[in-house]
Amino acid sequence: MSFALANAASPSLSAPANPIDAVVHSDPYPYYATLAERRPFGFDASLGMWVAAGPEALAEVLRHPACGVRPAGKVVPPALADGPAGNWFGALVRMNDGAAHGAMKPWLATRLAALRTDRDALARLQDAAQAACADAYLAQGEAPAARLDDFVFRQPVYGLAAWLGVPAAQWTEVYEDVHRLVAAMADSGKPSPNADVLAHGHHAATALRQRATRWLDNDAAPGSWLRDTARSAARDDGIDFGVLNANLVGLFTQTHDACAGLVANGIRRLARTAPTDTATGASTGNSTGSFSPGMRHAIQIVGDVIRFDPPVQNTRRFLHAPAVINGHKLSMGDVILVVLASAPSGPASDDVAWTFGLGAHGCPGRSPASTIAAVGVQAILDSGVDLATVADGSAYHSLANARIAKFSA
Ligand code: HEM
Repeated sequence: MSFALANAASPSLSAPANPIDAVVHSDPYPYYATLAERRPFGFDASLGMWVAAGPEALAEVLRHPACGVRPAGKVVPPALADGPAGNWFGALVRMNDGAAHGAMKPWLATRLAALRTDRDALARLQDAAQAACADAYLAQGEAPAARLDDFVFRQPVYGLAAWLGVPAAQWTEVYEDVHRLVAAMADSGKPSPNADVLAHGHHAATALRQRATRWLDNDAAPGSWLRDTARSAARDDGIDFGVLNANLVGLFTQTHDACAGLVANGIRRLARTAPTDTATGASTGNSTGSFSPGMRHAIQIVGDVIRFDPPVQNTRRFLHAPAVINGHKLSMGDVILVVLASAPSGPASDDVAWTFGLGAHGCPGRSPASTIAAVGVQAILDSGVDLATVADGSAYHSLANARIAKFSA
C-alpha cells in the first residue's frame, strides 16, 4: 500500500510521497489529517514499515507492551558499538525498555520537575541566550540567516547548561561536543556512516562524560540543580552513578534537535505573523502572569509551534513479540513509524502534546524545553533583526524525524 495521498486542502501543492517526506514538506498538515482519517494504521511498502496516524492508533502503539524503542537485542546501533559513544548510548533511558528504563526514568523525571522557573533561573537563561548570540556571530560572521541557523541549535544547549549549573566557561565546548555526538548518532543510522563523524562522536562522548563526572563531583555552581542531583543520587542506593552520568549527557543530546525545532519554527512563525496577532491569548496554558510582555509573546509563539508546527514529527517502535495492533497481525521485528504530528494537540498545559510522545517513554522535558525555547525566541525578538528578510522561507533541515526550519540557503 502506498501512503501518497492527494493534498485535499491545498490541491495546488503536491502532497508528500510518504510520512518521512512530510517532515520537510512546506505544509504537511492536510496530508497528516487525511492519513489519520483514511489510513490510521497500515503497511507502507515504500518505507518497509507500518505507519500509525491519529490519536487512537498513536496511543495504542505507544502504550503497547510488545513495542520497544529499539530493535530487540540491538540497543546500540552497530556503527556506534565498540566505543565510548556506544557505551553511552546503551545506558540511555530513551533507548531502553524494561528494568533499565524503569529504574532511571521516574527518578530523572522527578529531578527535571525540580528545575525552578524563578527570576534567577530566567536571568541565567537570558545570559546563556546572549552568550549563544555572541558565539553564533563568532562562528558564522555577518550573514544573518547562517547566524540564526547556528543560534537555534546552540542556544538551547547553553540554556540547559546554565539552568543545570554548568559554569559559563564550559558552555561553548559542551555545545560543540553535544553537536558532534548528535551528528554521530544520526550518521550511525545511515547505510554508510562517515568514519570521521563517528570518531568525533566517540571523542565527544568521552569528553562529555568526563565533564559530567566533574559536575556531579564539585565542578557545578553551588546551590545548582547539578549539586542537588548529586546529593539526591548519593542518598539513593538504587541510583548507579555511571547510568546517571550517561543520562545527564543524554539530557543535552535530547535538547539539541528537539529544542532547536521549537526555536527555529517559532522564529519562522514570528516572521510570518504580525506581532499584534499573537501578543495576547494563552494557548500554552502556562501561567504567564509574572513574565514580561516580550516573554509572554515568546511563550505564546512556542505554544503555537507545539500545537501547529511541532518539531518532533515522528518516532519509531520495534516489535519485540508478535502482536495484533489496530486489527493487523504484526510479527516480531516489524517496525512502526509513529506519526506524532498527525494528531491534534490541545491548548492547555495538561493536554496531550503529541510532539512530546506519550506513555512510558513520553518526554519528561516538556516544561523546561518550552521555557528554554521561549527565552531563545524572546532573544531573537529583542535583537531587532528583520525577520521578514531572513526567516520567511519554507526550507527545513533534511531530517527524518525532526522538523527544524532552515534559514540559510
Ligand atoms: C530541555 C529539553 C529536553 C529534555 C531534557 C528532554 C528529555 C527527554 C528524555 C530524557 C526522554 C527519554 C524519555 C524516555 O525514554 O522515557 C525524552 C523523550 C522524548 N522527547 Fe524530550 N527532551 C527535551 C526536549 C524535547 C522537545 C522540545 C521535544 C519535542 C518538541 C521532545 C520530544 C520528545 C519525544 C517525542 C520523546 C519520546 C520519544 C519516544 O517515545 O520514542 N523533547 N525527552
